[in-house]
Amino acid sequence: MAGVPREQWTSKRGFVLAAIGSAVGLGNMWRFSYLAAENGGAAFVVLYLVATLIVGLPVLLAELVLGRGSQRSPIQALAHYGGSRWKPLGLIFVATGFLILSYYAVIAGWALRYGLVAIASGFDSDAAAHFGEVASGWDAFGYHVAFMALTVFVVVGGVSRGIERTSMVLMPLLFALVVGLAVYAATLDGASAGYAYYLGTDFSKLLSLNVVKDATGQAFFSLSLGMGAMLTFASYLGRDVDLPRASWIIAGADIAIAFIAGLVVFPMIFALDLSADVGASTVGALFITLPKAFAEMGSVGRGVGILFFAALIVGALTSAISLLEVVVSSAIDRFGWRRRQAGILLGVAITLLGAPSAWSTDILGAVDQVANNILLLGGGLALSIFVGWVMVGPIEEASAGTAGVSWFGSWRNLLRYAVPAFLLFVLVYDAIPSTFRTIANLF
Ligand code: PHE
Repeated sequence: MAGVPREQWTSKRGFVLAAIGSAVGLGNMWRFSYLAAENGGAAFVVLYLVATLIVGLPVLLAELVLGRGSQRSPIQALAHYGGSRWKPLGLIFVATGFLILSYYAVIAGWALRYGLVAIASGFDSDAAAHFGEVASGWDAFGYHVAFMALTVFVVVGGVSRGIERTSMVLMPLLFALVVGLAVYAATLDGASAGYAYYLGTDFSKLLSLNVVKDATGQAFFSLSLGMGAMLTFASYLGRDVDLPRASWIIAGADIAIAFIAGLVVFPMIFALDLSADVGASTVGALFITLPKAFAEMGSVGRGVGILFFAALIVGALTSAISLLEVVVSSAIDRFGWRRRQAGILLGVAITLLGAPSAWSTDILGAVDQVANNILLLGGGLALSIFVGWVMVGPIEEASAGTAGVSWFGSWRNLLRYAVPAFLLFVLVYDAIPSTFRTIANLF
């Protein structure tokens, strides 16, 4: 702790790629496509864009400002600017990281397994039965452990040597994979039916509070907001970095990859006429329908499947790293633990916490809702109030490294009024009640 200088990114590009790596993940490919399918296609995409611009971006910049300004992990960062009464909020952030990673790694474990199956033998045409077999119990737990081990390995390597290096290699690869798959999907017969489903829309959904909540929750989840992941990454930055510019790039890349992933998923499903299978469950499109499509495409499908699941695993890994880093950096800052010790101990604890999600997809779904609807949206609400009202000098901190930005006044006003009012509304009228309903249904 004292005396040991804080780790730093070695380049701005490394930071930006790591932050994009955090943002781009299962959220872009798994969550985005099923939410879009469920919620009226383009209507959802439009609401998600609006939510990202009006609510997501201001909170993203707020997190970057808090992290870079304090040079500390979430608990200490909040205490630095707001005094120790704000520490509990930081603790909630760390707990949220713990919780999200516990089930996120279970889903990533499925992806890992599918990738290996594609390499070893190709996909089973009875994909639903296959999914039923692999998605729960010891099978799921085993791959969850393997994925967690990978995540721990990278985080233990450190900020620049582990996280930054991994992101520098994997993010360009991910981008190339997703774009390549979208180009391939466009050549399939029937792709246009997929586009029509994805982008054709039911605009009556624009008025549905539930869809607004889903779009806002997705904007938060996808940008890794509301639990200090972006804050933590920014705490390893110097004052020469232009944070507003970084936020635009991160949000732009995140939106682009989610959108392009939709251009991969829907044409493939429609080319093989499997649309009736979509939307049956939150995991349907990715883990049942697509593998079925890959199976029907024969040997080409096997190759495409390998590339698809490789992209999914890469995305999941760079996001999982950022979740674990929140927890690990807090233990380093707070208790003076060594990185290796913190990574391994906390990694094991998170792996065990994921056991219920590995055994039951219903539990997994419920934990996902609690994390998203309540913890991330609530965390975003608290962050916007904190930077809007409590923190002294956020605009000065946001200006460092820039040539001056004209919209900082509006940014502060958004954080003070519009963002909290909007998030409170969404929480009270939909997110909290619907999460309680999901939990009640478990019993
Ligand atoms: N943004 C990641 C994704 O879209 C998930 C994530 C959420 C990562 C919160 C970190 C923090 O997959």
